[in-house]
Amino acid sequence: MQVLTLVPALALLLVLVLAFIQLLKPKTASPKLPLGSFGWPVISESLEFLRCQHGGRLEKFVQDQMSKYNSPVFKTSLLGKRMAILCGPASNEFLFSNESKKVALWWPSSVRKLMGRCLVSKAGDEARSDKKMFMSFFNPEALIRIVGVIDEVTKDHLRTHWEGKDRLEAYFTLKQHTFSLACRLFMSITDPQVISRLADHFHMFLRGVVGLPLDVPSTNFYRSKKAADSIRKELRVLVKRRRTELERKTASPSQDIMSHLIVNGDENGKLMPEAEIINNMLNLLFAGHDTSTSTLVLIIKYLSKLPHVLEKVIAEQREIAALKARGELLQWGDLQKMRYSWNAISEVMRMTAPIYGSFREALVDFTYKGYTIPKGRKLHWSACSTHTDPNYHPRMLTFDESRFEGSGPAPYTYVPFGGGPRMCLGLEFARAELLVFLHNLFSGFRWSLVNPDEKIIYDPVPIPVKGLPIRLRPRD
Ligand code: HEM
Repeated sequence: MQVLTLVPALALLLVLVLAFIQLLKPKTASPKLPLGSFGWPVISESLEFLRCQHGGRLEKFVQDQMSKYNSPVFKTSLLGKRMAILCGPASNEFLFSNESKKVALWWPSSVRKLMGRCLVSKAGDEARSDKKMFMSFFNPEALIRIVGVIDEVTKDHLRTHWEGKDRLEAYFTLKQHTFSLACRLFMSITDPQVISRLADHFHMFLRGVVGLPLDVPSTNFYRSKKAADSIRKELRVLVKRRRTELERKTASPSQDIMSHLIVNGDENGKLMPEAEIINNMLNLLFAGHDTSTSTLVLIIKYLSKLPHVLEKVIAEQREIAALKARGELLQWGDLQKMRYSWNAISEVMRMTAPIYGSFREALVDFTYKGYTIPKGRKLHWSACSTHTDPNYHPRMLTFDESRFEGSGPAPYTYVPFGGGPRMCLGLEFARAELLVFLHNLFSGFRWSLVNPDEKIIYDPVPIPVKGLPIRLRPRD
């Protein structure tokens, strides 16, 4: 009987002791997650993003949320994923300098599936090793070699597609130019029929590359996949032919990136598998073609409305042209003299970033600015909002190329090419392509916009909605 009455008393004592221990335990603060909403249904925030994308004001989406939550970090849904947006120079620095430590490059699954194994779908040591291999091609000597080729292809393009015309759609014409140039420089393709076949497939490929990866007939993704297969088939033939030419010594190991990747191994001497060489060619076209086209078209649009800037660019280009013999091609040294022109191009890219930003994934749980970011969370850094933040770029709506004089904008406030280990590997290539085009355009033509107020939308790079029709006249 005594034992029976003791049991509830002991149980009560145990509960009290456990409760006391619980009270003594140090409190673990619940994680502070970024403010914001993933939306309901999940896509609702993305719709706001899409609205800004089609209004050509993607920075507005980011800036509105930043002021709503009074924070440079907020959460939302983009591309169907829960995402944390990290804004401003400090965030750019944090993300760029933590690659492979706390974060890694992330692309939507449609991109990864369509690209296959190549630089953009790799991370960590694998990506570092591939990038090293690419960078050894994009070295100063190679760039010095290719400026003349870029000039030759550009002159040929202007002669064929611009001369004698009184009107053309700049965007579509420039797309042809940058694609032919990429084919020539990356793979030495000069046959217009092969270029035009590849271009048709490639433009179909682009339609489904960022979107829902729904692999059923009649979707953009399905068509994109078929187009990527056709490109790979063409490139396979070219790579095989190149191997034979290299063996017979009728092609040079350094003539283009294709040769470079076939011949050179990684740090351990391991050669890149053929499928990866082909995927990387597709990757380079993807990364470098639309971005350059968009920048060229923006330069034409902005400078048409800024006669005082245009005049100074023309004066600089004339000085350089005056020192050249008739028919002599541009050289690397000439580009170094185009300082004012490059400042003007840089200001164009500040005002409308050709790439609005990009994505990362958290590799581990980490805390940033007091907010907990869980492992696996997708992250976005935004070039367009940093470029138009008045704290770093006063009078941010005024075109002012002098911002780039001297040491230029403060670190991480101007990031059109990204930063850190995943920074654009085509920066110098793009600089040469843009400056050489500008030089030849100004030497030969005057132009005016048919629709001076034509809207620019992000799709996903900035493009003019009507293809930027221009009226053309030869320059005396
Ligand atoms: C005005 C023209 C261009 C702009 C604005 C631009 C911008 C960018 C940006 C912002 C990134 C970084 C993306 C990130 O951090 O996630 C990037 C990466 C890349 N770009 Fe460019 N790019 C341009 C031209 C080119 C060209 C011409 C090429 C090819 C020669 C190229 C090849 C690449 C590649 C391969 C990557 C991926 C690098 C990696 O994942 O490590 N880009 N580009």
